[in-house]
Amino acid sequence: MCGIVGYIGTRPAAPMLIKGLHQLEYRGYDSAGIALNHENNQPFIIYKEKGKVSNLETAVINDQPAATVGIGHTRWATHGEPSTTNAHPHLSMSGEIVIVHNGIIENYKELKEQLERKGYVFKSQTDTEVLCNLIDYVYQRNGRQLMAAVSRALYHVIGAYAIVVMECKDSSHVVCARKASPLVIGVSEDNTEYFIGSDATPMVEYTKRVVYLDDGQIADVRRGEDINLINLSDHSAADVNVKEINLDIAALSKGGYPHYMIKEIFDQPRCMRDCMRGRIVRVRDYSGNGEHYEVHLSALKNFKAKLIRARHVIIVACGTSWHAGLIGKHLIEQMCRIRVEVEYASEFRYSNPVVEKDDVVIAISQSGETADTLAAIQLAKEKGALVFGIVNGVGSSIARETDTGIYIHVGPEIGVASTKAFTGQVTVLAMLALALGNALGTITEEEYQQTCHELTVIPDKINQILEQNDRIKELSAMFADRHNALYLGRGFNYPVALEGALKLKEISYIHAEGYPAAEMKHGPLALVDEHMPIVFVATHQGQYQKIISNMQEVQSRKGRILAIVSEGDNVAGHICEHVIEIPHTLNALVPLLSVIPMQMLAYHVAVAKGLNVDMPRNLAKSVTVE
Ligand code: F6R
Repeated sequence: MCGIVGYIGTRPAAPMLIKGLHQLEYRGYDSAGIALNHENNQPFIIYKEKGKVSNLETAVINDQPAATVGIGHTRWATHGEPSTTNAHPHLSMSGEIVIVHNGIIENYKELKEQLERKGYVFKSQTDTEVLCNLIDYVYQRNGRQLMAAVSRALYHVIGAYAIVVMECKDSSHVVCARKASPLVIGVSEDNTEYFIGSDATPMVEYTKRVVYLDDGQIADVRRGEDINLINLSDHSAADVNVKEINLDIAALSKGGYPHYMIKEIFDQPRCMRDCMRGRIVRVRDYSGNGEHYEVHLSALKNFKAKLIRARHVIIVACGTSWHAGLIGKHLIEQMCRIRVEVEYASEFRYSNPVVEKDDVVIAISQSGETADTLAAIQLAKEKGALVFGIVNGVGSSIARETDTGIYIHVGPEIGVASTKAFTGQVTVLAMLALALGNALGTITEEEYQQTCHELTVIPDKINQILEQNDRIKELSAMFADRHNALYLGRGFNYPVALEGALKLKEISYIHAEGYPAAEMKHGPLALVDEHMPIVFVATHQGQYQKIISNMQEVQSRKGRILAIVSEGDNVAGHICEHVIEIPHTLNALVPLLSVIPMQMLAYHVAVAKGLNVDMPRNLAKSVTVE
């Protein structure tokens, strides 16, 4: 998830682009750049800097470039580490085409090899430079018609993109296109200025009139002329629908949601699809008659043998990532029959742990910068273990320190309470367990196919849960005036209970504890009375009957129960005060669904208490101190 801006008009473009990039920085911030087209047939002026947009601003400020056409980008790395070379805009080898891109080109490796055979040389590790040179290749061979070249090049591209492209021969226009990645064009009252953005945030200050590109559309945006909009599929002309928007900047950067946390909760279906894209693939059967699923993880390429030989896996992480690790333990043990331990990184690093040469250490971290997890990795490496990272922050310290790993690719997470990173981590752990279990022969082909298929439909099932937002908001009243709460689950739902309790305590400041439900009678049951709200995660699979008995134990002590149950459950409703139903899924994948109402519940409780949901007191997004 990156941010795109563009400007064609009468004012100097650079300050407007930089201001727009600042407003889009929430979408990614590992590097930023702008390209300016100041005069026909003159080289583009390009500025790129690693890090935040303020670094770029410092680099541009003294030059005060006068160009009135330009494009810009703030990057959240997907291919290649954060660096100036990998930063956008990318220039084609001929220097005649420049591009900014948001999305992922899935077949970039094949395209790159083809272009290399035609003599193209690449400077960066990005898929975007490949797309840029592909456009350049077509452009050079088709009479230098930018719109036609972009549309023909995109015909060969598999993946998601929002792009804005400029040609150096004509400084009066840009071409933009989108597929599965948003792009908006703002139009000034008198049509003399156009503003482009990956959302409307950078333009609301200048105009309320916007055109949202539909999937598969390409637009030629030319100073002083109407937008020329075309459907990529058949090159037919499309209607340009100018809409009036009435949103303030703060709301827009949050996609219209009041807080980043709820936006990120609602982002989860899309994030999960991004996480699985190109990794769970449907492949034609050898017979040619049907299709089957395969899990493709490039991280396993050189390390598969070592991973499947592992005597022992140790997962190290902190907080929410540690909860994902507990689910990973169940997944790997069940599908691969390898013993897994899950350690708090902060404890592991000082415990003189037993780590042997054939052990594999999996480090899980959203930020990729958590000091304790980093120290645990260094210790594991000293002891000779293979270290595997599951990280969101591309090019982060943990991504660099690990021997290999898998990015979760859920985009920047801004709310301090982790939500979409958790579901991304569990998704990656499920894919890893599937790939290893398949290689080891410890899961059946039927189980492998069924689990892959179920993963692909989980995003739709999450959407069904998100539809219950209003009801969950009403139920939050049960917690908002309480000082304590208990969260109980068993099996795969025990780590979810821990995660639910952590979400509640960190943003609503209500003391909450997560417990394995059967442990209640060994002590915590003493806490239960009519003032204690208790969340049970009691989905149909696993030890359903046993958790129903645990519920009865609590109900007979007058505990007030809210249960998260599977659709159609007709037992729990008689025991509990309230139930939230979630769709059925496989036992191993239940956490991906059962955690969603927990996140929503914690959010609504914190909002009801009037607290700062995105920045809870005493906490930081990235814990770089031990
Ligand atoms: C809770 C939360 C924290 C983090 C923990 C580890 O919502 O966000 O518990 O999970 O600080 O951070 P990462 O995953 O960045 O290593």
